[in-house]
Amino acid sequence: LQELIATMEQKRAYVEAGGGPERARKQREGGKLTARERIDKLLDPGSFLEMSTFVQHARNRLMDGVESPGEGVVTGSGTINGRQVFVFSQDFTVLGGSLGKRNAMKVTKIMDLAAKTGCPVIGLNDSAGARIQEGVDSLSGYGEIFYRNSIYSGSVPQISAILGPCAGGAVYSPAITDFILMSKGSSYMFITGPDVIKTVTREEVTFDQLGGADVHTRKSGVAHLALDGDEAVIQGIKDLLGYLPQNAREKAPRVECTDPIDRRNDPLLSVITPDQRRAYDMHDVIKDIVDGGEFMEIQPDWAKNIVVGFARLNGQSIGIVANNPKSMGGSLNIDSSDKAARFIRTCDCYNVPILTLVDVSGFLPGVQQEYGGIIRHGAKMLFAYAEATVPKVTLITRKSYGGAYLAMNSRDMGADAVYAWPTATVAVMGAEGAANIVYRKEIKESDNPAAKRAEKIAEYKDTFDNPYIAAGKGYIDDVIAIEDTRKILIQTFEMLADKEETRPYKKHDNIPL
Ligand code: COA
Repeated sequence: LQELIATMEQKRAYVEAGGGPERARKQREGGKLTARERIDKLLDPGSFLEMSTFVQHARNRLMDGVESPGEGVVTGSGTINGRQVFVFSQDFTVLGGSLGKRNAMKVTKIMDLAAKTGCPVIGLNDSAGARIQEGVDSLSGYGEIFYRNSIYSGSVPQISAILGPCAGGAVYSPAITDFILMSKGSSYMFITGPDVIKTVTREEVTFDQLGGADVHTRKSGVAHLALDGDEAVIQGIKDLLGYLPQNAREKAPRVECTDPIDRRNDPLLSVITPDQRRAYDMHDVIKDIVDGGEFMEIQPDWAKNIVVGFARLNGQSIGIVANNPKSMGGSLNIDSSDKAARFIRTCDCYNVPILTLVDVSGFLPGVQQEYGGIIRHGAKMLFAYAEATVPKVTLITRKSYGGAYLAMNSRDMGADAVYAWPTATVAVMGAEGAANIVYRKEIKESDNPAAKRAEKIAEYKDTFDNPYIAAGKGYIDDVIAIEDTRKILIQTFEMLADKEETRPYKKHDNIPL
């Protein structure tokens, strides 16, 4: 028996050593942790339960004599703050973490278990891509993963960390998951690499310039967070999971709230002014309202004219979608529509109620916006709000005009409660534009067109520049004191806590893409 145990221990140690100390050293030299170190940092101590430990590559002529301890990926389950998750961690020290048939089998095994047990899946990506020696079998392996990423989407949260290379077809697994977190300087994602690009288009770029964390969190919008190194990314995953439930049937866990629920929002009185030309930062509003000022912003550096992220009200997780007047006057454009629509759908999948903060001048005018399909992209936002069945509360802080008023979750688009501050104004457009159109003839025929225009603008403002017309027609449920915002929002979300809403039968909806 002792001999059998010794053999098992020896084989286990061999697998746990991965590609060996020299490759592990190289990995650490690059500022990266090894696949197993990452799992240790991610999970509660001692909670990791490994699966498929002794799996080896699918043999073929090209792989004769090649060893793949652990098959280039470490997989299993464990807990994060006591909640069960499944994890796969690609091991770059074993054949570059390349993905062959059996490597994929290890990953799909834990994905299936996660779906059956209703637990999140976390993928720690660090791989040179499809295992060249296994040819089409490795492509098939990817297919099996992508298929599961897709069919489990919206059922259990799937979070991808990119901690090294993620290139070619491999990118589509993270791309299908709910969130992508990248480590700055040591990770990249692209479909075709710098060499191929140079041959085809003659453009010269480095790996980082092409697909680094900055690129995907500032330019492309592919990734959600760029963080400094493996440990920060791993912490980011834990923070994110804290705002999410285990699966689509549950609600996010409530945490203890030490911030008084009736704390007054006096600081906001010096943030907002009725003067629409004075921009303010919507982050200041968000932080003053939510528990402890804690806001986990998602995609903070892309499409900054809309702010999305997670926070808590009285310990309960909420998703926030907010215009930011500090960026592009808070107008909506193609990227901000995509960003908001995706976030709204993510919240709805996982039963996270949505708070919408509105200060929007409209959709951004421009030929490029129209050619780029702002109609198609803007439609996603309207659609996402309408299809969402979670509690939806809207607060209009200042202006809300035209189609953007509807896109920011008006009552007609399904908001359960709509509030406005006394500084709010709801109209088809701003006073200047409106006066110029409605009174164009009168202004033109006047002896003093400039004075007439000013008079008409003032007249329009007096009549329409307030929230009471919309409130009088029932489109706004209440005009609230700015200082009472936190208290009222907490009361409202608690009132809506057991909300249920059903939709007509369908296979699935057909959101414009
Ligand atoms: N299939 C099988 N083995 C691979 C591999 C692949 N796709 N890519 C790399 N490897 C192996 C290398 O042979 C090397 O093995 P060794 O440690 O036994 O020498 C190991 O993985 C590390 O690769 P290496 O090239 O030395 O690492 P690097 O850090 O210098 O470069 C990459 C990393 C990802 C840039 C580089 O490996 C690469 O370009 N790989 C091919 C990527 C690709 O096109 N994949 C297909 C996409 S679908």
